[in-house]
Amino acid sequence: MQQLPVGVSGPTRYRQSAAPELVATPTGVEFAWRPDRGHAGHMGDRTERCAVAATSPTVLVCLHSERQRRQDRRLGAAWAGSARWRQLFMGKTYVVCGASGRVGLLVAQHLLAQGHRVRAVTRDPSRLDWLAAQGAQVCGGSIQDPGFLTEVMRGADAAFVLTPVDTTQQDVNRVQRRVIDATTTGIRESGVGHVVLLSSWGAELAEPVGGIIACHWFEEKLNTIDGLNVVHLRPVWFMENFLWNIGLIKTAGINGSVVAPHTSFPMIATPDIASVAADYLGSLSFEGRSVRYLNGARDYTLVEATRILGAAIDRPGLRYSRMPQVVLEKGMVDSGGLTPGAAEFVTEIGLGISSRLVHAEPRSAANTTPTTLETFAGEVFAPAYHAAPDAPLRARVGGAALRAMLTAIGRRPV
Ligand SMILES: NC(=O)c1ccc[n+]([C@@H]2O[C@H](COP(=O)([O-])OP(=O)(O)OC[C@H]3O[C@@H](n4cnc5c(N)ncnc54)[C@H](OP(=O)(O)O)[C@@H]3O)[C@@H](O)[C@H]2O)c1
Repeated sequence: MQQLPVGVSGPTRYRQSAAPELVATPTGVEFAWRPDRGHAGHMGDRTERCAVAATSPTVLVCLHSERQRRQDRRLGAAWAGSARWRQLFMGKTYVVCGASGRVGLLVAQHLLAQGHRVRAVTRDPSRLDWLAAQGAQVCGGSIQDPGFLTEVMRGADAAFVLTPVDTTQQDVNRVQRRVIDATTTGIRESGVGHVVLLSSWGAELAEPVGGIIACHWFEEKLNTIDGLNVVHLRPVWFMENFLWNIGLIKTAGINGSVVAPHTSFPMIATPDIASVAADYLGSLSFEGRSVRYLNGARDYTLVEATRILGAAIDRPGLRYSRMPQVVLEKGMVDSGGLTPGAAEFVTEIGLGISSRLVHAEPRSAANTTPTTLETFAGEVFAPAYHAAPDAPLRARVGGAALRAMLTAIGRRPV
C-alpha cells in the first residue's frame, strides 16, 4: 500500500479518503480503487482500476479511469500509448549497474517494458546501442568511479547494483572492494532511497570464499547507510555457469568441476533473478533492510545435471568427473583466459558447495523460482553448445589424455 496525495489531475477526479493500492503489472503501475478496503471514489461502491502516472512515488500527476481510457481510445487518443510514452511521462527513474551483464540487462529490459526510465551503466556504451533504441539512457563509465556513480544516481528513484567478478584481474577481491566503495558513495551522495543488490548465497559468511566474500562486504556496507531501503537478493548457483563447460565437453567429451558428483545443490536461471529484482524495483514496496534468497526450481547433483545437459545436446552418454583443483584451475587459465587468482576463486566456491559451507536457506514456496534445469538446457545451453565451434584435433587429443588421467587417478566420469 502506498500513500498518494489528493490533487489528481486528468479527466476523472477522485475525492480520496484513504490510501489506494498500487499494483505493478507488466505494463506499468495500476491503481486499484478498493472501496471494500475503505477507499472512497466517485464510483461509490465499485472496484475500479485506473492507470496512474507519477513523477515520484508520492507525486501523482495524472490519473485516468478505465472508463475514460476507453473513451480516449474511441477518440483515437492513445493516451497510454507506447512504452516510450510511459517512459517519458509516467515511469520512475532507475539506475541499472552491470546493464550489459546477464542479470542487469534483463532487469533493464523489464523496467523499460514496465514504462520506466532506465539509466543503463556500462564501460562501453556502444555495447548497449540497441538498449538505447528501446528507450534506455546509456551511461558510459566505471562502477569503480564514485563521482560518476553519484551523478548517474542523482535524482533516481532506485538503483540495481552488483559487484561483478572480473576474471581478468589477478586480485578479484581488490577490484570488488573498489566497486563496493564507489557504489556506496554514489548511493550516499545522491540520496537514492531504494536499492536492490545482486548479492549471493553464502553472503552471510565472513570468511573468504571466492567472490562471495565481496557480497558479504557489500551487504554490510549498504546496511550502514541511514534511511536506505535495500533488498539483498541471494541467488544460488547460476545455471549459466554451465556455459563455461562447453569447451571441456567439446574437447574431452565430459563435464567436470571440483564439486563432488553426488552433492545435491540448488541452481537458478538468471532470468528468474532479473524478474524478481524488477518486481522489487517496479513496485518500490520494500522498506528497511531485507534478504531474499532465490533457490531456483529444485536441487540437482552434477551427475543428474550432466545427464540433463547431455540429453539436450544429443549426447546422452555425457558423464561427469570431479576434477582435481589444480587440473581444473590450469584448464581455466590455459583455455578460459582466467587469471590464476580468478580460477582459484571459481574452484573455492565449488569446494565450498561440496563441503556445504556455501548453502542456501531451506527451500520454500517463497524462494523457489520457476525455471528448471531441463528448460535451461533446452532453451539456452543447447543453442549455445551447437553455436560453439568444434574443438580442433589437437585439443581433442589433449581431451582424451585428460580423460585417461582422470580414470587413472580414480576420477572416472560417472
Ligand atoms: N555465477 C554465479 O553462480 C553467481 C551466484 C550468485 C551470485 N552471483 C553474483 O552475480 C554477480 C554477477 O552477475 P552477472 O552474472 O549478471 O554479471 P556479468 O554477466 O558478469 O556482468 C557483469 C557486468 O558488470 C559490468 N562491469 C564490470 N566491471 C565494471 C566496471 N568497472 N564498471 C562498469 N561496469 C562494470 C560489466 O559491464 P561492462 O563490461 O559493459 O562495463 C557487465 O555488464 C556477481 O556479483 C556474483 O557474485 C553469481
